Amino acid sequence: MERTLSLPAVEAAELRLGQVVVDPPVVLAPMAGVTNAAFRTLCREQGAPGDAHSVRSSGTTGLYVCEMITSRGLVERDQTTLDMLVFDPGETRRSVQLYGVDPAYMARAAEILCTEYGVAHIDLNFGCPVPKVTRKGGGAALPWKRRLLRAILEATVKAAAPYGVPVTLKTRKGIDDDHLTFLEAGRIAQEAGCAAIALHARTAAQHYSGTADWDAIGELVEHVDIPVLGNGDIWEATDALHMMAKTGCAGVVVGRGCLGRPWLFRDLAAAFGAAPPAPLPTLGEVAAMMRRHAELLARYMGEERGCKEFRKHIAWYLKGFAAGGELRQSLGLVDSLGFLETLLARLDPAEPYPMAELGNPRGRQGSPRRVALPDRWLDDRDDLRIDTGAELGISGG
Ligand SMILES: Cc1cc2nc3c(=O)[nH]c(=O)nc-3n(C[C@H](O)[C@H](O)[C@H](O)COP(=O)(O)O)c2cc1C
Repeated sequence: MERTLSLPAVEAAELRLGQVVVDPPVVLAPMAGVTNAAFRTLCREQGAPGDAHSVRSSGTTGLYVCEMITSRGLVERDQTTLDMLVFDPGETRRSVQLYGVDPAYMARAAEILCTEYGVAHIDLNFGCPVPKVTRKGGGAALPWKRRLLRAILEATVKAAAPYGVPVTLKTRKGIDDDHLTFLEAGRIAQEAGCAAIALHARTAAQHYSGTADWDAIGELVEHVDIPVLGNGDIWEATDALHMMAKTGCAGVVVGRGCLGRPWLFRDLAAAFGAAPPAPLPTLGEVAAMMRRHAELLARYMGEERGCKEFRKHIAWYLKGFAAGGELRQSLGLVDSLGFLETLLARLDPAEPYPMAELGNPRGRQGSPRRVALPDRWLDDRDDLRIDTGAELGISGG
């Protein structure tokens, strides 16, 4: 289906994270359980220069961040952590998100990533709103402890510096509206030598509810000299251009908008290259994408596990299409590529893309809730105590 879009003009200066040029200035958001090697590959294939709709051909690409790993998991060689550090041969620029609360462990983990995994970029996650993490003072609760945040950032940047690997910080606006941390975190990140700061413009209390506060992204841009990456509620390529025009941010981080829609990266590459968007995929083309996704998962995880892992993506891919309930249910039980193929063959390949889905939120929405914090957490912002339990049970941002 052909599309015409009215696009705001964006003066996108080159996005540079240290030596890493990100062009177009688009980052695949780290998403636990989603942005594994298979999904990153799928998104990268869509966004890659050389694609008919990507007119930029400077030899660089967007950045596709791996699922988050913990510093303890890596330093202690936990098998689940190591299993997440898998990269496609085409991933010439490895980007990993790291989380931890102990500067020494973070430094050691950064060094391992640089020396043993050849990463080109490390992102640090201080945006997780999950109660079992914030209750221990981790995730989005941690930036409240500004000295500890500084110590973690400085240690990680210092450990990565000899390898020329840029470190970025990803965070939220704060704990809640009364306890905002993003402006101070931005300054700390800048002073610690971080190459950029990404802001998911919600508080932890908001979880994924409501709308992202793009004005806060603009405020952060005014407040720091390092590049700011805007994050939150980019559902279509045009949203990315709007966010950049409205906030002056240097680039965008795209999460839920690409769930079941890896071609969003093709659209983003086109939009930033001022090229017309590609036609929207028919159901047959979506089915081909689903097949490719499942095959990639099978390649990295084995067929059965890969197919089971693929199940969670099915509703996202089929959102808005007329595919019947019984077929969807069967797809939800898929455990082999052959079975998947049989089921995909039952979809109507000519069914056009459901236009009503364009611009709609997808993935997690959640509802606001009080942020669980350790006792008296808010009393002393300069406390340097560490609760290693804050590294256990973390699951995203
Ligand atoms: C399934 C899922 C997993 C996520 N996991 C992480 C994570 O591991 N690290 C992180 O920094 N953010 C994580 N996030 C948050 C996203 O990176 C992003 O900040 C958030 O979804 C807002 O962006 P969006 O509106 O483009 O989705 C996760 C989000 C989702 C939906």
